[in-house]
Amino acid sequence: MAMTPILAMLLLAGPEPQKLPLGFRRELWEISVPVDRRPTAAQVALGDKLFNDKRLSKDDSTSCATCHDPKRAFTDGKARAEGLKKQVGQRNSPTVANALFNATQFWDGRAATLEDQAVLPITNPIEMGMDSGDEVVAKLKGLPEYVSAFKDAFGADISYEHVGRALAAFERKQVFGDSPFDRYLSGDAKALDASAKRGWMLFNSKARCQSCHSGNAVAPLFSDAKFHNIGVAAHKQDFVQLAGEALKVVRSGDQKQIDELALGSKFSELGRFMVTKSENDIGSFKTPTLRNIGVTGPYMHDGSFATLWDVMDHYNKGGLANPYLDGGMQRLGLTEAEIDDLVAFLFSLTSDTFAAVQKSELAKQKALKGKRPERDTDSATGKKNDLGDVGPTPDFAKKDPSNLGLYGPLPEH
Ligand code: HEC
Ligand code: HEC
Repeated sequence: MAMTPILAMLLLAGPEPQKLPLGFRRELWEISVPVDRRPTAAQVALGDKLFNDKRLSKDDSTSCATCHDPKRAFTDGKARAEGLKKQVGQRNSPTVANALFNATQFWDGRAATLEDQAVLPITNPIEMGMDSGDEVVAKLKGLPEYVSAFKDAFGADISYEHVGRALAAFERKQVFGDSPFDRYLSGDAKALDASAKRGWMLFNSKARCQSCHSGNAVAPLFSDAKFHNIGVAAHKQDFVQLAGEALKVVRSGDQKQIDELALGSKFSELGRFMVTKSENDIGSFKTPTLRNIGVTGPYMHDGSFATLWDVMDHYNKGGLANPYLDGGMQRLGLTEAEIDDLVAFLFSLTSDTFAAVQKSELAKQKALKGKRPERDTDSATGKKNDLGDVGPTPDFAKKDPSNLGLYGPLPEH
């Protein structure tokens, strides 16, 4: 007798309770994961298998994990992602760790949900290169292990929608807190050294990072989920001319076309503009999470900065001037010691899971510290250009950084 859909649903194992690491509150998880998308064990197992399966690409060469390696906090260590047939795209692979909490997906936010996002790389010609969702479904139907795995996970035959849902279910399990910084805020004063503690103070004050990389109890990613032009792409492009050209080729509201242009054409540098077509968004990209930042380099949407010292040099000089530079960007006047403190703080945001990888990444970055291609001390200190006043250096002796009232105590779940 054929099963009714309701009976089939009852027979499928229900959602598993998720244990959250230190740093993430249950309440946030509840509002971030839609009730009908709470992952079941069978869906997560299927998503895990799909995520790591190169057969999801046209020539069996590339899986999601090729660019989002779970061992390196779901990144590839490359400046720009490399897909099938060694094709290099325009953008850096962001981490999938904690991506379930993102308000939008991609550097330009062109996908609203994990499900929407997951099916795009599979058919992008320079990533996994499948011709269509139908082709993916036909290929998977030829693999008996998948026929039964989809039955177990969704009580249904293989469909492209369920490929996206299974991948999203797996991604919703990838929560990584438990960093030295999380322990520090929870009251373990010894979890950070003095330099990282000063870095956290500077992050909230003179260095102005907190205004975009908001970190608080309801925003544990260190991102305001907004889009800003911080002048990373400015040196390569004539934005105005490029925007004019883009408007001529972009068909309105076609997600697949924007996906292909964003990864495979010079229009990539227009960022959020390609999605909204609003002038204010030219050269704007999503404020990325800073969790696990010690292991997710190279940095920025185009992977153009090799180290966190390069990132700091960029901010210290006020970014790179262009007509659309965010008003929040100005010179910081940070000393070399203060830059080291901020970098020490950034390295404290990495989950214990990736502590061993971070050790070797830190060594690699320290070896590059002599280079500093982004450094412009004269602009940072106001000897060159007129880039405004600098905030006061905080009084480290007076305030206890764990007591700023930004977080409150973090309950363990
Ligand atoms: C060829 C390398 C490559 C492959 C293969 C790939 N990705 Fe990505 N992924 C990227 C790049 C590059 C971006 C950023 C693109 C952009 O923002 O325009 C990205 C973005 C994402 C994001 C958004 C994260 C954020 O913070 O906005 C998620 C989630 C993601 N990928 C998951 C997947 C999944 C699931 C698969 C497999 C179906 C996959 N990726 C396959 C390179 C890759
Ligand atoms: C005006 C908003 C804004 C301010 C202020 C700001 N950031 Fe950012 N940050 C961004 C955006 C947007 C990006 C991505 C830009 C891009 O790729 O073009 C970014 C990227 C980064 C990255 C690279 C992340 C990655 O995964 O590649 C790091 C690290 C970073 N910021 C740290 C900081 C620090 C430290 C400060 C303070 C000195 C700071 N930011 C101040 C908005 C801001």
